[in-house]
This record gives sequence, C-alpha cells and structure tokens, in this order.
Amino acid sequence: MIVTTAQLFKHAYGKYAVGAYNINNAEQAMGLFRGCIDSKAPFIIQISKGARKYTDKRMLEAIIRAAADIFPESIFAVHLDHGDEETCYDCINSGFFSSVMIDASHDPFDKNVEITKRVVDKAHAKGISVEAELGMLGGVEEDIKVEEGHACLTDPDEAKDFVTKTGCDSLACAIGTSHGAFKFKGRQSLHFDVLEKIKSRLPGFPLVMHGSSSVPKEEVQRINAAGGQIKDSMGVDPNEYLPAAKLGVTKVNIDTDGRLVWTRVHREFFRDKPAEFDFRPPGKIFIDEYAKFIASRNRLLGSAGQLDDLRASLKK
Ligand code: G3H
Ligand code: 13P
Ligand code: ZN
Repeated sequence: MIVTTAQLFKHAYGKYAVGAYNINNAEQAMGLFRGCIDSKAPFIIQISKGARKYTDKRMLEAIIRAAADIFPESIFAVHLDHGDEETCYDCINSGFFSSVMIDASHDPFDKNVEITKRVVDKAHAKGISVEAELGMLGGVEEDIKVEEGHACLTDPDEAKDFVTKTGCDSLACAIGTSHGAFKFKGRQSLHFDVLEKIKSRLPGFPLVMHGSSSVPKEEVQRINAAGGQIKDSMGVDPNEYLPAAKLGVTKVNIDTDGRLVWTRVHREFFRDKPAEFDFRPPGKIFIDEYAKFIASRNRLLGSAGQLDDLRASLKK
C-alpha cells in the first residue's frame, strides 16, 4: 500500500526512523520489498533524477507497482530524491509519487523559501508530502559536488523560520553527514548538539538525515579483495540512527550501502567464476544479500516490527 511520508512520520516520530532506500532496477526493488517484509518494516522508496533517466522513468514506476502486487502487505511511500522544481512538478503530476523532495539548498535562504513554497502549494493541492532541505551536505549528489570545507550545518533558528514560511512537511538537515562513501576523515559522529537545538525549535516536526550510509568496513574489504580500489572510505555509525530518531529524525537516507552490496556480490562472483557470463546467478545472490542488508538496517532504525501497528493506526 502506498502512503505519504507524512503518514509514516506521524507513526514513527520520536520512536524510530523509516529507512529511505534508493532504487534503480528490478533487483534492488525485489531485495528492498523482501527485506522490509522479512523485518516487518514500513519503508520509503527513493527515486533520484538519475534513476529516472537510467532506463525510463516509467520503468521504475512499473517495477514498483509490480512489487507492490507481489508483496501486498507492504506499506511504503514513493518519494522523489533531490528534486529540482521541474522534476517535482513532473512527479506531482504523475499520479504515482506520494512524496517529493525539493532541494533548493544550494540557493540563498530567500530563494530556497520561494521555490520550496511554490512546490509545497502544488503538492499539497494533490495530497502529496514535501521534504525540503536547509544547510548543505558535503560529498557528491547528482551532478553537484560540494567540497568538505563548503558544507554547512543547518542553523536551528533558520530552520524554524524556513518551515514556518514554506509549510513543508519534513526538513532535511545538515548535521555532519555527506553523500557517498567518504564521509568523515578521522572523527565519526553526528552533530547531536545541532540536532537537539533544531528539535527544540521545531518540536514534533519530522527531520530527515541524508548521507546516512554506514559504509561497512568488511564490505569495502571484500570489494577490494576482489579487485576493487575503494580507499579511505568511512560512513555513519549505524548505532547512531536510533538516538537520532529519538531527536526527531524520522527518515534516514541510505543509497551508497546498497551499491556496495551490489559491487561486493558481483566482484566476488565473477572473480570466483571467471568463465561465467550469465548475469542471473549473481543477480539472485544480490537480491538475497540486499534483502538481508535492508532487514539489518531496519532493525537498527527501529522500524523493524512496526508494520502491523502502523497498519492498525492507518485504519483509525
Ligand atoms: O543523494 C544522492 C543519492 O545517493 C542518489 O544518487 O543521483 O546517483 O542516483 P544518484
Ligand atoms: P548515502 O550516500 O550516504 O547513501 O546517502 C544517500 C542519500 O542521502 C540519498 O538522498
Ligand atoms: Zn541525499
């Protein structure tokens, strides 16, 4: 069942965070749905602009509709990740997305407010939730690369002003994470002090953490042992997901970790079976491994085991 992120956040707020996982193809969709059903967790499917372009935007929609038929007990939102204004309108008008992210965080505050407010008005007219972003994460996203020194944490006072002016439903905050596999040099922790201040200015308001992949060391070691060359990677400590959830983080974005699972499975498979050229055997292994990975993340997020209670609360 497709619901809005606002419905998911109402149930999760202060107790657990919902995993928001990016997908690009059918194998990721199968692993994601299976992992969430196995762990009895609600979830958010994220589709980036790049994912919509990878094959055809209609392809992913069809895959998700099919997965929802195969796993009828699933409860999830379909969300545009890092949208610009034009892509937001395309998704709002598609009749398929239940949530969009307008990311005007690279613009000055007033312009960010202006753009976000326009998207909020159009989305709310159709019952669609809107995530906006304030502050700037480091790392790479789509075609934008923000150098470490230019990333800036979200200002808690500005956050309150921004939410009041735009009417957005959730806010992506920069609290020390960055996109990709190289998040920290040395120190590895979220800025809980900033998060606490944002929560005190916006009590009860759903916050979003981007760049949340944990970049597991053993995963990277296995990739490198099978021919990869990923150096100096570091992710978020996944034991910090739940403490962040208690401070109002209701959505935790994970993409890079899924790519690492894919790379590890395929590198090891073709290293061990150099004469193989059928892509289905490693594809099957990937689906199983990705499902296990998703279930493990849902347990750390606290979303595992929440499905039945959420279903009951949606009927009230
Ligand atoms: O924040 C970016 C997400 O990881 C999506 O990545 O734009 O390469 O699909 P992508
Ligand atoms: P990671 O690169 O840490 O997986 O973050 C993904 C993300 O924030 C998608 O919006
Ligand atoms: Zn992101």
